[in-house]
Amino acid sequence: MTSEKTLRAVLVGTGAVANAHARAVDAYPRAELVAVADLSHEKAREFASRYGIAAAYDDLDAMLAEERPDVVLVCTPPGPHRAQTLAAFASGAHVIVEKPPAPSLDELDDMRAAAAAADRELAVVFQQRTGTAAAHVRALLQSGALGRPLVAMCQTLWFRDAEYFAVPWRGRWETEGGGTTLGHGIHQLDLLAHLLGDWASVQGRLWRLDRETETEDASTATILFEQGAVAQVITSAVSPRETSSIRIDTQKATVTVDHLYGHGHDDWRITPAPGFEAEAEGWGFPESEERSDHEPLLRDVFDALLDGRPLPPTADAPARSLELVAAIYASAAADGAVITPSDLARHPTHRAGFESPVTDLRR
Ligand SMILES: NC(=O)c1ccc[n+]([C@@H]2O[C@H](COP(=O)([O-])OP(=O)(O)OC[C@H]3O[C@@H](n4cnc5c(N)ncnc54)[C@H](O)[C@@H]3O)[C@@H](O)[C@H]2O)c1
Repeated sequence: MTSEKTLRAVLVGTGAVANAHARAVDAYPRAELVAVADLSHEKAREFASRYGIAAAYDDLDAMLAEERPDVVLVCTPPGPHRAQTLAAFASGAHVIVEKPPAPSLDELDDMRAAAAAADRELAVVFQQRTGTAAAHVRALLQSGALGRPLVAMCQTLWFRDAEYFAVPWRGRWETEGGGTTLGHGIHQLDLLAHLLGDWASVQGRLWRLDRETETEDASTATILFEQGAVAQVITSAVSPRETSSIRIDTQKATVTVDHLYGHGHDDWRITPAPGFEAEAEGWGFPESEERSDHEPLLRDVFDALLDGRPLPPTADAPARSLELVAAIYASAAADGAVITPSDLARHPTHRAGFESPVTDLRR
């Protein structure tokens, strides 16, 4: 039975991604965005008037005290995520936080501990887990219908020019926390792990190929998953023909998705191995299609919150892909050594931040 309660939502950080949140709340009948906050009061006011939101603040604490929301949408850059999430839990609200959930694993640990102590949910926005195609492929993989996953490729080949990196906070460890692996590759790494599950080891290297950055503009990694599949991962900010893609070869099929910032059924393909063509007739995508987006993610989280159910798999496990990213940086710091989850759990520095040596290949 679904309750008739309506969620009072507030949003902090009225920048670019906040628009996707406002649209997603708008599309959901049982939630209302009652207020927004931003460091810039003017930006908050402008955003509120654009979406017909009743109140605009320049201070999160004041907004929490005044509005007593059920849920806080955290849309600020990663730096303030921890403090804002803790404040939201202290006020009794649930939190939906944008990727990356925190600039370090230690900070994310604090956020998860605060969620548990407050008995509230911490949902993370990796919207590329959503969409009917990803759900379908995940179910096929998890049921064993495609046989055992064997080998995978995960590519984030994006193009960010010199001007993009000229913004003072970009490309620097202190202000961005990481390079293209943390900022861009994390989406595809997250989808890969959503499909293949827990990881067993990571080896990685960081490269500076062309851009004027302190962080990496490319990285390469090998990930071994617990269930036995091995994945090659390449992430780049210097690739003119851009693509985000995943390929998984199983005992019975090759699954691919090729897209850029979001995917629908046409972006996915399941190719049967010789001899499995007849079986493949049962692998067809469902008739009704929903693309990956913020809207299905927020809808499914809101449904779970209203019904008192656990978070959906599209928004739970906030640490998994951040751990993969951290492990790539930790491995690079040890000249490509193998990093396991237990290495990462007690790593002397890489739970606190990701700064690592980058091999400079610029000419
Ligand atoms: N899921 C996605 O596809 C996606 C896409 C873009 C960005 N993001 C993520 O969303 C977050 C925000 O990115 P963006 O591109 O919207 O950034 P942005 O710079 O456009 O907006 C951030 C806003 O937060 C405000 N802000 C900063 N610090 C604040 C603070 N302490 N208190 C209140 N307001 C504060 C800024 O004034 C700004 O208006 C990042 O974590 C980013 O990685 C996710």
